Amino acid sequence: MCGIIGYTGTKNNAKEVLLSGLKKLEYRGYDSAGIAVYENEKINLYKSTGKIKNLEESLSKNTSTLNLGIGHTRWATHGVPNETNAHPHKCGNVTLVHNGIIENYLELKQDLILKGTEFKTQTDTEVACAYINEIYKTEKNKIKCIAQSCKNFRGSYAFAIIFDDEPDTIYAVRKDSPLVIGVGASDENFISSDISAILNYTNRYILLEHEEFAKISKDSIEIFNSNLEKIEKEILTATWSSSEYQKSGFDHFMLKEINEQPKVLKQVFERYFSNNTYDQNIDISNYDNIHIVACGSAMHAGLVGKFLFEKYALIPVTVEVASEYRYKNQLITNNTLVIIISQSGETADTLAALRIAKQKGAHTLGIVNAVGSTISRESDITIYTHAGPEIAVATTKGYASQVAVLSTLALNTAIKKGLIDKTFEEHIYNDFKNIQNTISDVIKNYEEEYKKVSEYIYKHDHLFYIGRGIDNAVCLEGSLKLKEISYMHSEAYAAGELKHGTISLIEQGTPLIAVATDEILFEKTVSNVKETKARGSFVVFITTRDLEDKYIKSVEDTSGFFDIKLVLPSATDFTQALVTMVALQLIAYKTAILRDCDIDQPRNLAKSVTVE
Ligand code: AGP
Repeated sequence: MCGIIGYTGTKNNAKEVLLSGLKKLEYRGYDSAGIAVYENEKINLYKSTGKIKNLEESLSKNTSTLNLGIGHTRWATHGVPNETNAHPHKCGNVTLVHNGIIENYLELKQDLILKGTEFKTQTDTEVACAYINEIYKTEKNKIKCIAQSCKNFRGSYAFAIIFDDEPDTIYAVRKDSPLVIGVGASDENFISSDISAILNYTNRYILLEHEEFAKISKDSIEIFNSNLEKIEKEILTATWSSSEYQKSGFDHFMLKEINEQPKVLKQVFERYFSNNTYDQNIDISNYDNIHIVACGSAMHAGLVGKFLFEKYALIPVTVEVASEYRYKNQLITNNTLVIIISQSGETADTLAALRIAKQKGAHTLGIVNAVGSTISRESDITIYTHAGPEIAVATTKGYASQVAVLSTLALNTAIKKGLIDKTFEEHIYNDFKNIQNTISDVIKNYEEEYKKVSEYIYKHDHLFYIGRGIDNAVCLEGSLKLKEISYMHSEAYAAGELKHGTISLIEQGTPLIAVATDEILFEKTVSNVKETKARGSFVVFITTRDLEDKYIKSVEDTSGFFDIKLVLPSATDFTQALVTMVALQLIAYKTAILRDCDIDQPRNLAKSVTVE
């Protein structure tokens, strides 16, 4: 939800490292930013609202070489986004940046006020800073001081902390929110919310684990466990290069990542189906039931998985948003598999749901993109989607790779249960092998249709998506894409359900995108489309070449039930959702362009929601 960066060393200028790192972390939140640096014998704070470039402009005259600093880009949780509430916060000897929420900050704040602390901001973070400063008055061992403070914090945190009296050292601790330590080649070390922010300087890093503490100077990194015993940690090497964090000629990261989907999906299918096994040779065919738990688009991917597991592997599946699942009676048996889906592997609600599922005795399987993320490390088994770094806040390849992993898992499970004959398996296998060309076709050969659709819908403030079965799951994701980046209100609805009330909202010209790619449900969906057409809707009808030939071209009266037709390549149940979703991603993208919206960093959003 926020991005943290820190530098200590003499090889680079702390200011440059912090600013370049914050730009890479902006996807985690971008309503205000700030840095704290040690210069002219003291720690100075510089903050600004809005994007990092505003902070950069305010620092442009600062030319001194700095050797210690911490920085933060914020997605506000407590207190409006303004300079006062922006991090870093400084109280007495202590300056810190924080990612997370201190839930009991108000009671701590009352105690501190009674002890004479005066607060300047509305944030929970300033309270944490003041609390550590208060403890530091009597506990001069900084690791012990921080540990003692954290014992009284309830909630989530990743802290980077510097002290006036030790201007070459950064202290750090994390609970739930992510933090990595960048290991410099010589005379410098780093800290960051994720490795992407420091890849220009090092690809070697240490993962700070839950409730571990770190003391970092330019030539030493000490890690302590929750008992404050010094421990050794493995130094990992990031496989992603910094070039993957560039737009590579595309106008936006989102468009780049849409265009990466053919390659990403080809790799997923080759990795997980060609030899019928997974990294850990996963066999989930004996579970009585599956709970899929995730948030946002990851949950929508789960809905596609549900359709495939139930239709082909004959395993009952429930799909729930993590923020609901974690508080309900989960009804977990000792033969329940809980599948946790998360691109970032750090989503707070999803992580909480994982932990509850494990406490209740479920076996847990993570489908995750970010290697080494908390969810990937705490799941009993993890299948990585290997989509590469996804920078745009609105997920595309992240979602698509989740669907592809679920497709291969459902097919592998059906095969293990003897429910798929060889002919059908070959048919699906060929579908997987063609996926790169099929998705490339949808990206490249429908410009005119996407243009026509977006030019009609962008002038409206309300829009409907309707579909049945797997098409309904895709409509939910298409609707979220449009809402996220174009700020249009849209609603996805089971096509058969519209007439039970919501159809009252259809007026003359109301845009309605109908998806009908499943032959069994095709004519029913067309009937629902006609019900809206009779009430004035403007229909964008999305179907496949096979269904157009059979049900539209061959029928005399094909006029009247749609205004724009998108005829996509025909695919099998295991990939059709991916084909349709690319069209909906590009419609959302082009609509957002016409509405002059911020594509990669939409208002109010953040890429990784690490708070509840
Ligand atoms: C999708 O475009 C959104 N950015 C959001 O719904 C996202 O899918 C959700 O927050 C879950 O994130 P995760 O996959 O990293 O857990």
